[in-house]
Amino acid sequence: MSKRIIVGVTGASGIDVAREVLELIADTDGFESHLVMSDSAKRTAELECTYGPDALEKAADVVYPNDRIESRIASGTFRTEGMVIVPCSMKTVAGIAGGFSDSLLLRAADVVLKERRKLVLAVRETPFNGIHLRNMKELWEMGADIMPLMMTFYNRPETIEDMVHHMACKCVERLGIEPKCFKRW
Ligand SMILES: Cc1cc2nc3c(=O)[nH]c(=O)nc-3n(C[C@H](O)[C@H](O)[C@H](O)COP(=O)(O)O)c2cc1C
Repeated sequence: MSKRIIVGVTGASGIDVAREVLELIADTDGFESHLVMSDSAKRTAELECTYGPDALEKAADVVYPNDRIESRIASGTFRTEGMVIVPCSMKTVAGIAGGFSDSLLLRAADVVLKERRKLVLAVRETPFNGIHLRNMKELWEMGADIMPLMMTFYNRPETIEDMVHHMACKCVERLGIEPKCFKRW
C-alpha cells in the first residue's frame, strides 16, 4: 500500500511550491498525495499563478473539498505519514494553534497533531507580528515543523523555479521522500 501524504494548500503566497510538492510526491514510487485546498488558496492561485486550482487538483492522487468534513483525512483511523500545508497562511496557523477545526483542512491538521504524526507548515508572511510568532512557537512546541518559504542562495539557483524546487524538496523530505534531483550541500 502506498504511503499517504496529506497536502493542504491555503491562501498564502507561494502556490507554485504546492504544485511542486504534489509533483515530487507523484514522481516518488510508493507515495500518494491527498489534497485539500481552502477557498482562499483557490483564489490566490487564480491571482498569482498562470494556472488555476485545477492544475493542482490534476497533480494530486486524491482531492477532497474543504467543506466535506466527513472525508477520510478527518479521522485518525485513516493512516497517513502526516501532512504538509504549503503555503500555510497565518490564518490557518491560528486555526491549528487554537484547535479551531471548522474546515476539512484544519481538522486534518488537528488530527495529524493528535495522532502525533508529522505536521510540516510551510508558513508564509512577512514581516511577522507577535500573534503569528506566538502561534508558530506554540505549534513548534507541539511538534510541528515550521518551514518558512524562504529564499535560498547557497544552492546557486538560476531561476525562481530552482528556488521553488529546492523549498519543495525540503518540505517533502520531512515526510520521508527522497527527491531525485534535490541538490544537497
Ligand atoms: C494574492 C494573495 C496573497 C496572500 N498572501 C498571504 C500570505 O503570504 N500570508 C498570509 O498569511 N496570508 C496571505 N493572504 C491572505 C489570506 O489569503 C487570507 O488571510 C485568507 O483568509 C486565508 O485563509 P485560509 O488560511 O483559509 O486559506 C493573501 C491573499 C491574497 C489574495
